[in-house]
Amino acid sequence: MATAFGSVFMPEMSITWFDGSSWSAVEMVPSNSIQLHPGAHVLHYASTCFEGLKAFRHADGSVKVFRIDRNVARLAQSARLLALPELDEGFVTQMILDTVKRFESDVPQPPGSMYIRPTLFGTEPAVGKAAAPSETACFYVLLSPVGDYFAGGDRALRILVEDQGLRCAPHNGMIKSGGNYASALLPTMKAKAEHKVDQVLFCPNGDVQETGAANFLLIDGDEVITRSLDDSFLHGVTRDSVLTIARDLGMKVTERTITVDEMLERIKKPGCEAALSGTAAVLAPVGTMVYQDKEYKVGNGGIGETTVKLRTALNDIQWGKAEDKHGWLTDV
Ligand code: COI
Repeated sequence: MATAFGSVFMPEMSITWFDGSSWSAVEMVPSNSIQLHPGAHVLHYASTCFEGLKAFRHADGSVKVFRIDRNVARLAQSARLLALPELDEGFVTQMILDTVKRFESDVPQPPGSMYIRPTLFGTEPAVGKAAAPSETACFYVLLSPVGDYFAGGDRALRILVEDQGLRCAPHNGMIKSGGNYASALLPTMKAKAEHKVDQVLFCPNGDVQETGAANFLLIDGDEVITRSLDDSFLHGVTRDSVLTIARDLGMKVTERTITVDEMLERIKKPGCEAALSGTAAVLAPVGTMVYQDKEYKVGNGGIGETTVKLRTALNDIQWGKAEDKHGWLTDV
């Protein structure tokens, strides 16, 4: 059986500690050892954020990291919004590249990749600091060789459309923080048990936002429709890449709010598709939506042709089979 996404790690990770005034020299340490005080700020007040990006092996043997600048910039934004010590973006970029370089020979061949998980958290032993930031912090870069995120190979996903609950606190949606993922867990577990779905599409008051693990896109003929950026959901780097590729392919891209009613109306059309985008999810087709105990097929209910075309175009750039005309790849 294939191992679950993100459950195998390289034996070492790179790490640096902030002592309140400066970051320590980067060290390589075993990936299974990190010493933390039980009173550490992160364990009590969830002062943590992270990133998810990937390194890809090309046919000539070289390894490239995809859109590192966007992920590093988003980490800096998450850190700022969580009042965590900020890291210099150039320093983080170099630390990520050096870490991947160290395990360059372990980067899987396509269709696999090396998932990169840079993580920042507050370490100060201070359980009284519920309303104050951690003075000290830790930042590490952990690597995990991965394949597909959704188990079961290439298949059309089932999602539950949830129009009551929120994925996370509305003003914190664009922060890539552990707390946001934790708050989506219980509704997702309930939906999996009750409706046998893969994900929950959070649509508070009928406003289509995103799922617990990925952004959401509707593909109606030659138009891609997705929610316009605001602070209620994660500003996906893959979302941005897919929209750019869609424009490059001559498709129309519309970023605006979508209601559940409009979405359910549109997906009845045979040419309509829906997909989830994310570093882990890549671009995963959605075949069925469950809403208020009724099932709705998306188009013909299978894997959408345009979804496959967009995903292939993205993968081709990532694996060096197509020109990197936007300069998205960085050598390690
Ligand atoms: C990613 O796509 O990088 C994420 O962080 C999502 C997570 C559910 C694996």
